[in-house]
Amino acid sequence: MVRKGHESHDSSIVGSKEDLAKAFEAFSRSSAELVEYFGVLQRRIADLTAQLERSKRLAAIGEMSATLAHEIRNPLSGISLSVSILKRRLKGETERDLIRNIEMGIERMEGIIRDILNFSQDLVVRKDKIDWCVLANKVISQMRHRLGGSNVRVEIEGEGSLVADFCLIERVLVNLIDNSFDALDGKGMIFLIGQEDEAGFSILVRDNGPGFSQEVLNKAVEPFFTTKTKGTGLGLAIVSRIIEAHSGRMSLSNWEQGAEVKLWLPS
Ligand SMILES: Nc1ncnc2c1ncn2[C@@H]1O[C@H](COP(=O)(O)OP(=O)(O)OP(=O)(O)O)[C@@H](O)[C@H]1O
Ligand SMILES: [Mg+2]
Repeated sequence: MVRKGHESHDSSIVGSKEDLAKAFEAFSRSSAELVEYFGVLQRRIADLTAQLERSKRLAAIGEMSATLAHEIRNPLSGISLSVSILKRRLKGETERDLIRNIEMGIERMEGIIRDILNFSQDLVVRKDKIDWCVLANKVISQMRHRLGGSNVRVEIEGEGSLVADFCLIERVLVNLIDNSFDALDGKGMIFLIGQEDEAGFSILVRDNGPGFSQEVLNKAVEPFFTTKTKGTGLGLAIVSRIIEAHSGRMSLSNWEQGAEVKLWLPS
């Protein structure tokens, strides 16, 4: 009885040979799709694991450098004070030159410590509606000492408003312009292009320097990656943190004439 019932059930599902062939074909297609999807998932898991490892490593580096910076700051201010006392006592020009060298070194170290502490600080984002042209012009006028004595020109394009923390976005632009300025080596153009869209505001910072090499594109945003003798390698890492804190996006690439940093901020 059971066997008979089973046979009649099979024939109602499978039907003819063609049906069987079709079912098999559909099954093969689905399995191929599944295998492909499994591959995609495996790659995604590998990417996410690598990302997680990287974040953990960066967090550890950040914490360690903040502690170091903090510990170095006190003895450094002691050195700075002693040097200024020495400077007043020394009369000879050669000795004073040596002291000036030490002072320059101290200033540089203080700058690095400031960058590291800024980088590891928790960011508090106070968003405001900001006019693009006001922001871009303020940044340029703030940097006029650096730009003024060179043949580097900055052009501001676009209009509209963005929703962001004024001081933080100012720091973003200063860092990016600084980088373009260094890349231009005294001569060239920097373009600051702002554009509003339905969901936010995009900013392009372009220069007509040598552009990003492949190695730099892969590593530039990592803290302490620098190709400069006097660089700390924190500029782009700070920019990236600020953009992340705004839930925005950042990407580096090259355009026809040089380097391009693209930012997008939601409104
Ligand atoms: N506009 C650009 N054109 C070409 N290379 C660039 C540009 N901007 C950044 N880079 C490369 O990316 C590296 C990392 O930049 P980042 O701003 O993080 O550090 P830095 O400028 O070297 O040092 P810091 O900003 O801390 O003084 C630079 O050393 C440089 O090699
Ligand atoms: Mg920089």
